[in-house]
Amino acid sequence: MTKILFTGAAGQLGIEIINKLREIHGTDSVIATDIRDAEGDLKNGPFEKLDVLDEASMREMVEKYEITQIYHLAALLSAKAEKNIELARKLNVGSLHNVLNIAKDYKLDRVFWPSSIAVFGPDAKTDGTPQNSQCNPTTVYGINKLTGEQYCAYYSRTLGVDVRSVRYPGLIGYKTLPGGGTTDYAVDIYHKAVKGESFECFLDKDSRLPMMYMDDAVKATIDLMNADSSKLSVRTSYNVAAISFTPEEIANSIRKFIPDFKITYKPDYRQDIANSWPDRIDDSAARNDWGWQHDFDLDAMTKDMLENIGKYWK
Ligand code: SER
Repeated sequence: MTKILFTGAAGQLGIEIINKLREIHGTDSVIATDIRDAEGDLKNGPFEKLDVLDEASMREMVEKYEITQIYHLAALLSAKAEKNIELARKLNVGSLHNVLNIAKDYKLDRVFWPSSIAVFGPDAKTDGTPQNSQCNPTTVYGINKLTGEQYCAYYSRTLGVDVRSVRYPGLIGYKTLPGGGTTDYAVDIYHKAVKGESFECFLDKDSRLPMMYMDDAVKATIDLMNADSSKLSVRTSYNVAAISFTPEEIANSIRKFIPDFKITYKPDYRQDIANSWPDRIDDSAARNDWGWQHDFDLDAMTKDMLENIGKYWK
């Protein structure tokens, strides 16, 4: 029987993936954990407070619930990592070590850990960044993720841990508020639009970045975790792509529904982070190995976001 320990449950992806996993495996088979208290939908199933830097407590939880899989999502996002270098190293790399060692010792079925488009850095080809690209990240977050990817590949190859990963692009969903990412402007912009406010963007109007709607991100995660292990040729982390747009293009998409929506631009330190990331990545390995495909384009995402933000945040 599958029993899942999920870390970082209160983060950007937490409740979205947890709800899907609970649909598949049953509510009690997914133990949500976070360093923060459970709020909102997280109260609808088993929840434990857990600091992922505390390896002993994580081991106790794995024993207590007879865990067979870990989804390790606890992390600092890019803008926050840049301001907290030491915490980012401990959380984004150190806690992954704890999880991989636990997976090895308890012979867990599999582990999911997210990487990011931040691994590439400015030397990579920006349009159609290949799976095996130059990776010279210039951000703390990118360095953390690239290190983590290499440990995942090592634990898979040498120690037999079935750890799987995708390089998420910027993720957009309505259930969580922006949480310190560079791509989070594309979440915030919808909240402002729904309130009838104008939006001041911390990136330039032409900053193109790879992005993905939350439903597609959840699908990518579940499909990869369900894939036959023998089909997986990438054990660092898979490129997964969906849409790619600039702040100006997302504002124009919003104007199809809210014609008088206004945006202004005031780039800050996050512009440098965005400049070091790709415009569009090539995800043919994911498409060939485990049949990845996305469903949402920019306007379909805009429609869904604008319809749901108001209902969800009543
Ligand atoms: N969306 C993340 C961020 O902006 C990148 O993986 O931090």
